[in-house]
Amino acid sequence: MTQDLRIDAARLWATLTETAQYGAIAGPAPDRPGLCRLTLSDEDVAMRRWFAQACQAIGMTVTTDRIGTQYARLPGSDAALPPIAIGSHLDTQPTGGRFDGILGVLAGLEVARTVQASGTTTRHPIEIINWTNEEGARFAPAMVASGVFAGVFTLDYALAQTDRDGVTMGEALAQSGFAGDETPGGHALAAHFELHIEQGPVLEAEALEIGVVSGVQGIRWFDVVVKGQTCHAGTTPMALRRDALHAAARLAIAVDDIGRSDPGASLATIGLFQAYPGSRNTAPGEVRMTVDLRHPNVGGLDQLEAKLRNAMSALQSQLRVGMTLNLIWSSPPVSFDPGVLGAISAATQRLGYSHRAMLSGAGHDSVYTARVAPTGMIFIPCENGLSHNVAENITPADAERGANVLLQAVLDYDRGQIPANAG
Ligand code: GLV
Ligand code: MN
Ligand code: MN
Repeated sequence: MTQDLRIDAARLWATLTETAQYGAIAGPAPDRPGLCRLTLSDEDVAMRRWFAQACQAIGMTVTTDRIGTQYARLPGSDAALPPIAIGSHLDTQPTGGRFDGILGVLAGLEVARTVQASGTTTRHPIEIINWTNEEGARFAPAMVASGVFAGVFTLDYALAQTDRDGVTMGEALAQSGFAGDETPGGHALAAHFELHIEQGPVLEAEALEIGVVSGVQGIRWFDVVVKGQTCHAGTTPMALRRDALHAAARLAIAVDDIGRSDPGASLATIGLFQAYPGSRNTAPGEVRMTVDLRHPNVGGLDQLEAKLRNAMSALQSQLRVGMTLNLIWSSPPVSFDPGVLGAISAATQRLGYSHRAMLSGAGHDSVYTARVAPTGMIFIPCENGLSHNVAENITPADAERGANVLLQAVLDYDRGQIPANAG
């Protein structure tokens, strides 16, 4: 009876622990490393090889597309059906944790191992997907490979994106050996399920075990360049300066105010801030920075962007500097599929786990798969709501619950038992 099937919690935890060697950096304790596994780095390549081998070891077929996304497929009984996908990412932030994205892919592997070991054959193939460059930490934008899969970006656009050393994603892919020959988006998905840590404080604060993720808030990413004039630190009177760093610092304060302007909804972040030429006795003539704006609805995002533009024009005239704002990525708010959410809710309830519906603050590959396939996400709590931090942490019991919901929801969906309930 497939409703009695459960994942092997010890095996899942061992997999998470073993693979944390790929890109391990100092964390809060020796047995709790952080991770730096930037897309297509040597560490990412080692993790990708491990993942492919582990999937092949249980008889899965592993293919790679032209943007490096890996697809590991367990066959179903009906060859005419497209696969039910379980996808997330194995890349991390530069000082990231062991679970963001990684849990989703490795729980997918655990689901495949469980199904395969039980002798169960699903109707649809089950496909575990490792989407390339979800984080956007090495190459912007984030979620670029799932975006190419969904037709939001062209492959050429994605491959031309450069990292901070000027290396293109195409070059990094060629060097990694993970430039495959499959066309991204070249095969249909029956559905896309993603298990992820919440990366925020809500489930923990409410002592709930599972989040049924109804959708994802909107995101806009900007590059900002502030141009003033470099000048001598010892000879230029303050009144004569056009200090780009001073103007950028004032803008940074304005961005923080914008993030607080619609409490509970608006968020604004400067993640990157670089002053040039970078010399102790020269006032900087140029600053490059990034701005990340988020809001659950498009109107709210429009307002945040308008506030940003207003703050910039006021500072430009006041401080006699130039400021340019370049929108490099816009990810509108997304609502997930009622059928997939219904399967997730039903599995959660059957397993007896406490739960609530919630919106995701973080972007995920599911944002883009939602454009081409019925999609839904499952959240589990994470310690102190902390993520994009080496101290990111979850409990083995939470990982087990999330993976069991994933397993049962996928099996229900495969059998067509999909109550239309987004709760
Ligand atoms: C993507 O991972 C984001 O939310 O920044
Ligand atoms: Mn993630
Ligand atoms: Mn992340």
